[in-house]
Amino acid sequence: MKNNKTQNLIRGALTEGRSFLYEHESKEIITLYGVPTTKQILARNEGEAEAAADKIGYPVVLKVVSPQVLHKSDVGAVLLGLKNGIAVREGYQKIINGVKSRVPDAEVLGVLVQEMARPSTEVIVGALRDPQFGPTVMFGIGGVFTEIIRDVSFRVAPLTLKEAGEMVAEIKYRKILEGVRGNPAVDVPALTEILVKTSQIMVDYPEINAIDLNPVLAYEKGAMVVDARFILSEEVKAAEPQDRLTPRELLEPKSVAVIGASSNPEKIGHKILRNIVDAGFKGSIYPINPRDAEIIGLKCYKSVLDVQGDVDAAVVVVPAAHVLQVVKECVEKKVKGAIIISSGFKDIGSDGAKMEADILKAAREGGLRIIGPNCQGVSNPKAGFCATWPLVEAVGDVAVISQSGTIALEVPSYLSGNGLGYSKAIALGNKSDIDEADLISWLSGDDDTRVIAVYTEGMKNGVKLMKAVQRASAEKPVLILKGGKTEMGKRAVLAHTGSLAGNKEVFEAAIRQGGGVSVNNLEELCDAAKAFSMLQSPKGNKLLIVTSSGGSGILASDECEHVGLTLTKLHESTVRGLRDSLPSWCVVGNPIDLTGNAMNNVTLYRDSLEIALEDESVDMVLVIFGDPITQTWDTLKSVASKAATLGIPLAVAYLGGAEVQIVETKTLQENGIPVYPTPGRAVNALGYLNVYRRIMSRLNG
Ligand SMILES: Nc1ncnc2c1ncn2[C@@H]1O[C@H](COP(=O)(O)OP(=O)(O)OP(=O)(O)O)[C@@H](O)[C@H]1O
Ligand SMILES: [Mg+2]
Repeated sequence: MKNNKTQNLIRGALTEGRSFLYEHESKEIITLYGVPTTKQILARNEGEAEAAADKIGYPVVLKVVSPQVLHKSDVGAVLLGLKNGIAVREGYQKIINGVKSRVPDAEVLGVLVQEMARPSTEVIVGALRDPQFGPTVMFGIGGVFTEIIRDVSFRVAPLTLKEAGEMVAEIKYRKILEGVRGNPAVDVPALTEILVKTSQIMVDYPEINAIDLNPVLAYEKGAMVVDARFILSEEVKAAEPQDRLTPRELLEPKSVAVIGASSNPEKIGHKILRNIVDAGFKGSIYPINPRDAEIIGLKCYKSVLDVQGDVDAAVVVVPAAHVLQVVKECVEKKVKGAIIISSGFKDIGSDGAKMEADILKAAREGGLRIIGPNCQGVSNPKAGFCATWPLVEAVGDVAVISQSGTIALEVPSYLSGNGLGYSKAIALGNKSDIDEADLISWLSGDDDTRVIAVYTEGMKNGVKLMKAVQRASAEKPVLILKGGKTEMGKRAVLAHTGSLAGNKEVFEAAIRQGGGVSVNNLEELCDAAKAFSMLQSPKGNKLLIVTSSGGSGILASDECEHVGLTLTKLHESTVRGLRDSLPSWCVVGNPIDLTGNAMNNVTLYRDSLEIALEDESVDMVLVIFGDPITQTWDTLKSVASKAATLGIPLAVAYLGGAEVQIVETKTLQENGIPVYPTPGRAVNALGYLNVYRRIMSRLNG
């Protein structure tokens, strides 16, 4: 709970110009929050030190208290296990002399005498104020070795006990906490309580920039913080503006102006106009260009203000210097939204950033929403509204939101090459106004969208993103790919937690916490989007593999563990049924290996699946075709519909089939079966279905 004592300690430090709290101050605060820590007394001389030690009880620990010494053991200023008064007096001198010789300018306030905690498994509890997500809590293993092991997990504060429990469970080396080599299992609830209380401190005091509780000694019963450090910062961020609704006219306009339309086929202003026409846009199209009377057969206007009817959306392709004027005219014309393709703003540095700010101001004052600037536009193939390039016409149910233009169009291109399509593609560019969060919120209510795929390099207001993801995930999967290096902030200098929290780690943890599906690369984004678009959610994580290729079956099996799937164990009766019906050269197990003979006996896939699908232990199926096996769809047709009825997703990996592979893949995908070129990619995509299944069950309680 917020309290005066803590406020005074923080204020005192800041008044002294100190950007951190001493160990004893930090420990006082955590004690007020009910976090267990060592008894402690600050001593100014040998005599006080001995008296303090007598009072606390031996053995004791001595540590220097000095504003110049943040990492005490680095300068030999931590003495452990002092057993009596003489050792304490000697220790006091030793610390003072040691610090004087190693940090000559150090100003020493005294020595902190503290209770010596019984050695045990060491963990770290940390917190930091992430530039995107705000207060964020960290848990890690290893105490003094955390930076080497780097086995940490993150959650955005405030934290529930359940989330804190997940943080502990997520650690790679959690086996260490479960008790190894004679060490007992540690008291996990005691740790989760410390995590939740640390989260509360961060929420209560915006002046605290980072917290290190390192190490925390974890016991069979209870836990004890033996070192604590609070880092302060004076700047307290202002609240971000509220969510604002994205107007539907931006993506489903009835009329569009292309401002900067061009008769030169090389120019973007021409390509966009041409694509809007070629995509079959049914509404009114107004090219705007003061020099032309007509472009590709359409009447041209000098200004958007000259247009008679309403204009819902404007696509802006004029040089940067003219954009402000154009935006003002759009405001005057009561255009609902502008898609600003023009570059030369924040993307080129501070002069450009200033222009961008002016544009945003004019737009906000006039109620005009903006996508971009410096973006590659938007496309809504169902509405024939292709205000981008290239033209990808395939209509489907995947929406793509991307900071990068190329990626915004790559996902639709991939889907269209795989018998699928997309509902919307939006390239965001500089995101001066509309951002990922606005669009995720909007698309969560879009009936044409079943899956949302996002590529982002991060956004300023991460909490807004997290909330939007949270709302949308209850409706449909939100796949998120985060690009950009792991960067360490300024905080890295002072706190362990800072050096362990790159913005990518925190970002991905926050997205998962919000219910988003975090993917690792573009290939996974595409593969997973395809699976979500074609398949339904599985009931569990148990996979059955039917293959003609032993090696591919093994590779698929190997991949299962990484992605959280298990190979199902078929019931005895199923195994018996399979043995009775399949030729003796088939290997009945999981995988069911039909062997290379399947090439001339393709119906064996159907025969085996008819039996296996009856088995309740099968949650999803991977069919692997090796060699050039033909007639795959004829064979799978009946069992695919049976699987769909039973709610069992079925995917195919087809490999080693040269020309035949291309033909078969096409036929299968046209019939709604996702086909992947390798076993690993197929298993990975199915794995993501399972990830979302787990998210849904978490969101539903
Ligand atoms: N009160 C204590 N009881 C038992 N062990 C302790 C105690 N204080 C410190 N230690 C041990 O000594 C080590 C170093 O102490 P401490 O963490 O206070 O030093 P530090 O140099 O400030 O650490 P860092 O800068 O790495 O966070 C701890 O990791 C812990 O193993
Ligand atoms: Mg420490």
